[in-house]
Amino acid sequence: MTDTTKQSPTASHRQVIRDVVNTMAPFASPPVEQDLREQGFDGPILRLHLNECPYPPSPKVVEAIREAAAGVNRYPDSWWRGPANILAERLDVPRHRIVFGNGSDQLLNALGDLTLEDGHSAIVPEPSFHRYNLATEMQGAELIKVPLNPQGANDVEAMLAAIRPNTPLIFTASPNNPTGGMLTGQELHRLADGVPDSCLLVLDEAYHEFAQREDGPDGLAAIRHREGPWVVLRTLSKAYGLAGLRIGYAICGSDEIAEGLNKLRQAFQVNAIALAAAEAALGDMEYGRWLVEQVAAERDRVMAEMRGMGLSPLPSVGNFITADVGRPAAPLVGAIARRGIMIGTIRTPTPGYDTYIRLTVGTREEMDALLLALAEELAAQAEQ
Ligand SMILES: Cc1ncc(COP(=O)(O)O)c(C=O)c1O
Repeated sequence: MTDTTKQSPTASHRQVIRDVVNTMAPFASPPVEQDLREQGFDGPILRLHLNECPYPPSPKVVEAIREAAAGVNRYPDSWWRGPANILAERLDVPRHRIVFGNGSDQLLNALGDLTLEDGHSAIVPEPSFHRYNLATEMQGAELIKVPLNPQGANDVEAMLAAIRPNTPLIFTASPNNPTGGMLTGQELHRLADGVPDSCLLVLDEAYHEFAQREDGPDGLAAIRHREGPWVVLRTLSKAYGLAGLRIGYAICGSDEIAEGLNKLRQAFQVNAIALAAAEAALGDMEYGRWLVEQVAAERDRVMAEMRGMGLSPLPSVGNFITADVGRPAAPLVGAIARRGIMIGTIRTPTPGYDTYIRLTVGTREEMDALLLALAEELAAQAEQ
C-alpha cells in the first residue's frame, strides 16, 4: 500500500474517495435568500425558484409540530406509523410497502443504491428532475437521456425503446419538472406493461395533487397492476407546504422492493417533527385542497398574463411555469435576482432549453411583482 502521508494533502484526500465520486461535479446548492444576503442585497426577497408552496402549512400542522417539539429528546418511530397508517388505508396499500424518506430526494438516491452498479444504465427523461441524473452517476452507471415529447411530458415510447438488457432502472415523472407536462392514463398503462420485468419502473409524482386538480390520471392506480417491479414516489413538500421538514414517501409494488429500501435506510430516517407534521397534514385534506386550489388558480392567471406579454409558457399542471424567453435565460434570471426575485433557468443543461426560465407560483402579490420585473427586464434587454 502506498504511503499517502507523503503525497500532497489533496491527492491523499481524493485517493480515499470512490473514483466515481471524484469525477462527479461539485455539489451545486440550490440558491436561497441567504446567498443574496451574503452578496450584499438587503431589500425584500421573493423565492420563486424552488417550487415551494407560498403558504404556510395548516394550523393543525403547526400545532402538531409544536406538540412534537416538546418530545424531541426521544428518537422517532422508525416505522413512521402516524402518516403510514393514513396512507395505507387511503391508498389501499399494505403499510409495510410504504417507505418514508428525508424528502423524496433521499429516496431517489436510495433507488439508485438499490438497483445500479458499474456497467449498468438508467433511463431518465430530459430535461427533468436533476436528482435522477445524480442518483445514477453516483453509482458509476451510465445515464441514458431521453428527450421529452413536444407537450413537455415524458416520451413513453422513446423511453421504452431506450431500455437495454443492462438497464435495471427507469425514472419517469408525471407531471414532469421543469416542463409541467403529465402522462395520459393510456401512456401510464403503456409504461406499466412495456417496461420489462428486469427493470424497476419509478414514477415520480411529486406534483400528484396538482395533476389531480386537473383531472389527471392517478399514476398509482394506473401502474399498480404491473407484474414487474415498480415504485411511486410522492412528497409532502409541494401540495402540503412541508418542504422545510423534508418528508416524502415511496409506495412500493412488492415486499421485496420495500425490504430492499429498508435495508439501505437509516434507523431513524425521518425526524419526529416531520412525522407529526405529515400525519396532521394528511389528516387535514380540506386545507391541502385549498392550498392546491390557490396555487393552481394563480398559475393559470400568470400563464394568461405571460401570453399577453407575447411569451408561450408550456402547459404546466404543476406549481411552476416554464417559458421560452427567446434569448439566453441566465442573464435575465440574474437581472431579476438583482431585484430580489429568485427564479430559475433549467437546472439540467439540456440542448434547446438555455432560453427557458422556470418560475414557481407564489401569492398574487408575489406574482404581480415578478410579472412587472419580467416585463421590464425583457423590454430593457430587447433595447440592448
Ligand atoms: C419531480 C420532483 N421529484 C422530487 C422532488 C423532491 O422533493 P422532496 O425531496 O422535497 O420530497 C422534487 C422537488 O422539487 C421534484 O420536482
